[in-house]
Amino acid sequence: MKELQFNRHRRLRSNASMRALVRETHLHKEDLIYPIFIIDGEQVKNEVSSMPGVFQISMDNLRTEMEEVTGLGIKSVILFGVPHEHDKDEQGTGAFDHNGLVQQATRFIKKEFPEVIVIADTCLCEYTSHGHCGIVEDGKILNDASLDLLAKTAISQAEAGADIIAPSNMMDGFVTAIRAGLDEAGYVDIPIMSYAVKYSSAFYGPFREAANGAPQFGDRKTYQMDPGNRIEAFREAESDVVEGADFLIVKPALSYMDIIRDLKNNFTLPVVAYNVSGEYSMIKGAALNGWIDEKAIVIEMLTGFKRAGADLIITYHAKDVARWINEEK
Ligand code: PBG
Repeated sequence: MKELQFNRHRRLRSNASMRALVRETHLHKEDLIYPIFIIDGEQVKNEVSSMPGVFQISMDNLRTEMEEVTGLGIKSVILFGVPHEHDKDEQGTGAFDHNGLVQQATRFIKKEFPEVIVIADTCLCEYTSHGHCGIVEDGKILNDASLDLLAKTAISQAEAGADIIAPSNMMDGFVTAIRAGLDEAGYVDIPIMSYAVKYSSAFYGPFREAANGAPQFGDRKTYQMDPGNRIEAFREAESDVVEGADFLIVKPALSYMDIIRDLKNNFTLPVVAYNVSGEYSMIKGAALNGWIDEKAIVIEMLTGFKRAGADLIITYHAKDVARWINEEK
């Protein structure tokens, strides 16, 4: 038989050690950012029904939660507040309350677990009675009037000790407004992790139960992006870079891996993938039914985000992933 000419790619796949030697992408515990929901009240630990394994916890349970998180080796958390319905108002004043939920939790963590990076989600929707991310007038979400409140929120979070401000509201000019506010208040060194490219997505469904922040009328389509758009993501990211952002978030992650790669190829800031609530719920649901191998699927998905260009991943799977990484050592 004539000798065939071809390449032997399988040489580098021959056994686990060889595969590990040539693996291009690795997940590290340092890549993970764990979201925590702080709810008003005492002795509360509510499992979010659509997100098994994710809890709304009250301040008095935060120490135990943080001991678990840090014990696993997770080094950053992102905080969301879940206030009582009767504490919500038209302006979302709870968002910039000195004693607000995120402010209290931030102060506690920075005092008791100072090495942990605390990221504060900066938005109004969890605190407004109408559930929108900005001020509402005559059924419209006002852009410019909302900026002042967002800047105030960021400043109060920085005052509480937040290491990073993460604005998720998608008003135009929010990075400019927040940067100016922080600088004026003396927080020139506090970075902004901008939700630069945030799509209007059905994958946020379970989060709205977790954070109790569903819009009471309409939807978020006049401020969050249309899922069909790619070029618009460049415009959004570019604006935020010019306005002074320090990190760029792409959200959701799984259906937007192309956008993660686009941002990585075209901008020099760290790119963050937000692996959102609905992405988590789908995997948990299937895993609880015994339909998939949860560990293998989660690691493959998160490795995919990194291969696509994400430097960091905000994920509800963080604790499980940290545990799996620890077990391998
Ligand atoms: C608030 C906010 C949302 C999420 C993060 N910050 C909800 C939304 O915009 O409707 C979604 C996170 C998730 O689904 O995991 N603006």
